[in-house]
Amino acid sequence: MTEKIRIIGGKQLKGEVSISGAKNAVLKLMAAALLAKGESKIYNVPELTDVVIMLNVLEQLGAKTSYNKAEKSLTIDATNLTSVTAGYEFVSRMRASFIVLGALVGRCKEAIVALPGGCAIGERKVDFHIRGLEALGTNVKIENGYVHAKARKLVGSDIYLDIPSVGATENIMLASVLAEGSTRIQNAAQEPEISDLANFLNAMGADIVGAGTSEIVVNGVKQEDLRPIEYTTIPDRIEAGTYMAAFIATRGKGIIRNIFPNHLTFYTSKLTKMGADIKLIDPTSIEVSCKRRLEAVNIITQPYPGFPTDLQSLAMALATVADGVSIITESLYENRFMQVPELRKMGADIHQERNHSLVKGVKNLTGANLRASDLRAGASLVIASLMANGESTIDNIYHIDRGYELLEDKFRMIGADITRFTEDDSAIITKNKGSLSESQL
Ligand code: EPU
Repeated sequence: MTEKIRIIGGKQLKGEVSISGAKNAVLKLMAAALLAKGESKIYNVPELTDVVIMLNVLEQLGAKTSYNKAEKSLTIDATNLTSVTAGYEFVSRMRASFIVLGALVGRCKEAIVALPGGCAIGERKVDFHIRGLEALGTNVKIENGYVHAKARKLVGSDIYLDIPSVGATENIMLASVLAEGSTRIQNAAQEPEISDLANFLNAMGADIVGAGTSEIVVNGVKQEDLRPIEYTTIPDRIEAGTYMAAFIATRGKGIIRNIFPNHLTFYTSKLTKMGADIKLIDPTSIEVSCKRRLEAVNIITQPYPGFPTDLQSLAMALATVADGVSIITESLYENRFMQVPELRKMGADIHQERNHSLVKGVKNLTGANLRASDLRAGASLVIASLMANGESTIDNIYHIDRGYELLEDKFRMIGADITRFTEDDSAIITKNKGSLSESQL
């Protein structure tokens, strides 16, 4: 039976929320663990369906994995890899599993990985990933929906990315750790998740400099230089940005803990411009409040350190009730305004043309029956429902479960009226669908 979320809006949110480990960092660290023989342990791993899918991929490759709930740690033993094939059944469910391509090419000099194809938010090509691997000396063929990459040896190279693609930067970094000589990635992505991956790999024995800037140099090392490690991943800046939006949307006041505030500089400055009050209270916590009606703001999404595309839908939810007209431009994806028709059902006044949305603020939104089309569009519907008058239900919440750990529990703790229920309303489900079992999956 399909699960939905019911939210009774209009409650002012107050209290404290602690942010989980970053989904988009952890998934890449899991792939990186394949590079070193032995058992690596990653801490601060969120219980999410995407993490479960990536564990399935690693197991398919022969790695042994186990999750410890109490520690929120994940152990990956990559001593023996028995396969180089990541099947369509997993890659089609989560495109981030394509990241094992670089790690497998690095470690095994061969990888057969299903092509992810497009998804709800855009075409999402992988041509830069493939060109990057080819530049390192890999022969890449595309056959029957799979990328088959094979190299006799990998040799460092200068690689220029047309767009600072996060996934391509990561796949090239992973493949070049064990290449001969140096690889220079120019116009590299600068997201905090890239730096986290580089820090993880360097702790393992890799030699990577410049991560977090637009030029990354990977000096190749030998397999025997790599050792398994213990590592704690960074907090999820997008989850943090979502709770910031929630406190602001409901004119509430709360503390968000376990974050790196400098990962959210651009977002914070836009929210402040809209009228929110955001204070640093210690190096890993902020206090967020909002006492008055928000003001309209213009936003253009850009690669980091610009305004994050993953928070665009959240900012749009806020703009729907702001005073004035906001112009929101999505410059990374062709189709990332999937929340627009749903927000309109709630009374939002949004005119969309290609990658621009004109949002004319209304006084209030009203509750409605809504459908999440993807993860971040789904999150924006949660924020809109929290501030709307009356009841909303959100369908297709498996999208939201991909990226938000213990969503209802966390929102309930800060005063939201939110429940998960099945289609026939007979059983309230309290557990997040993405739960990992104690043992191996
Ligand atoms: N692109 C190409 N060719 C390529 C690679 C990318 O044309 O070979 C294009 C894409 O089509 C897209 C743009 O470049 O239009 C940016 O894509 P990028 O490769 O940077 O994104 P990604 O690695 O596929 C990650 C996050 C996304 C986040 C983007 C941008 C993960 C698992 N996913 O995707 O997160 O939106 O970076 O910051 O890390 C999410 O969490 O909801 C999410 C979608």
